[in-house]
Amino acid sequence: MNELDGILPADGWSREEILEHLRRLAAADPDYAGGRTWSLVYYLGAGHTRLLQEAHNLFLSANALNPMAFKSLTRMEHAVVRMTAGLLHGDDQVCGTMTSGGTESCLLAVKTYRDRARARRPWIRRPEMILPASAHVAWEKGAAYFDVKAVHVPLGTDFRVDPEAVRRRVGRNTVMILGSAPQYPHGVVDPIGELGRIAQSRGIPLHVDACVGGYLLPFVERLGHPVPAFDFRVPGVTSISADTHKYGYGAKGASVILYRNLEYLKHQLFVYPDWPGGIFASAGLLGTRPGGSIAAAWAAMMALGEAGYLENARRIMQATRQLIEGIGNIPGLEVLGRPPMSLFAYRATDPQVNIFAVGDRLEARGWHVDRQQRPDCLHAMVTPRHLEVVPAFLGDLAAAVDAVRADPSLAKAGSAPMYGLVGRLPLRGLVRRNVRDMLLALYGPEGRFPAMAGAPDGGEESTTAAEPAALRALGWWARWKQRRDRGTG
Ligand SMILES: Cc1ncc(COP(=O)(O)O)c(C=O)c1O
Repeated sequence: MNELDGILPADGWSREEILEHLRRLAAADPDYAGGRTWSLVYYLGAGHTRLLQEAHNLFLSANALNPMAFKSLTRMEHAVVRMTAGLLHGDDQVCGTMTSGGTESCLLAVKTYRDRARARRPWIRRPEMILPASAHVAWEKGAAYFDVKAVHVPLGTDFRVDPEAVRRRVGRNTVMILGSAPQYPHGVVDPIGELGRIAQSRGIPLHVDACVGGYLLPFVERLGHPVPAFDFRVPGVTSISADTHKYGYGAKGASVILYRNLEYLKHQLFVYPDWPGGIFASAGLLGTRPGGSIAAAWAAMMALGEAGYLENARRIMQATRQLIEGIGNIPGLEVLGRPPMSLFAYRATDPQVNIFAVGDRLEARGWHVDRQQRPDCLHAMVTPRHLEVVPAFLGDLAAAVDAVRADPSLAKAGSAPMYGLVGRLPLRGLVRRNVRDMLLALYGPEGRFPAMAGAPDGGEESTTAAEPAALRALGWWARWKQRRDRGTG
């Protein structure tokens, strides 16, 4: 029994006890301040963090649910939206709202365009949206939540969506087209200009998912790096999402969705005039909206200003170039595509090198790296903090590649075999069901953390809940194949 078993204490703990426990918990988390995480956190240092904390604290209890009540929040939200519209070359018609994060912004775009199509093309029974195969999974969630069919379009050899394939898939049920700037898995920017031409010629809205690039690409461009057109300068782009809690360097829980004009935004709104609790109107998915994340987003933008964002973009691009060049110089590795910004994926070109075993070795040296599939690769999302750790990371990466090449058994140990096989397992329904079971175990009454294969104590090394599920699914698959091969399946 310990303090995290979920027993409400009979008497409240002291402030010191609580903070002491929280500090201990945090100490076991990934070391983002030391630049060891290659995803999840956009950390600018202790000074900036303190500012976010203070801004957040001032509005900790404030609620942006009712825009008429906390006018402070409404004004800050408006300011963040206007500053973002300016960065993305919107004119004075461009409008939008803040949301709780990238996923909410994506979900809202799906709802907006489904409802717009319902109003303008009521004959559509089964709305469809065109998604590049690289679209963030938030769009799949949107498809599932709002019952819009996702029509997937393959990528070209450069990992950008193939615009000709998009053109062919637009049909009478299409309610929106998506492009990303950049997409998450490989960090490349879809051909937004060509998508804009298709969207305009067919009279269909085009959303640009700039959740990760919205506050970085404008500054990368100003630094003189080639950045393909992706924002409101592109005719045909009708909306853009950009996350203040990513390269906007705000606190977690904040993003912006912008529309070219009110005609689009109006379909995002929800109004219910008959509730006994009063007439209800809301611009997003949430009811209560935390004031702290709005205040922190505003504070971050005002504190950094153009000069701050430019300097951070400069550091990021310097680190990214060093990393991409360094990885290119490690025999047996290559970076996928030509990412214009700070996200990229790298894989093994040498069949003797299992990239997931490389990931395990990095993990053992304290680096937190994400694994990706189709093709098997590792992922990096570079932040200003990483500039100081580039040499250490490249050294560990080269050593990891050497170790894996020298010892083939490493590809069969740890989490490597699971990552390798789960992407190729043909029974996707089985994988889905197994992963769902893992989540149920995690959120069930016992709150069981998945036992992680590969970790000595069965519980610590892994990064996703999917691995044991994948292993079980693989067992099923192997048995099913055996039966089939014997002619009994
Ligand atoms: C392109 C893109 N869209 C949407 C999202 C979802 O954002 P969030 O995790 O804030 O919900 C992400 C997250 O990385 C992303 O990279």
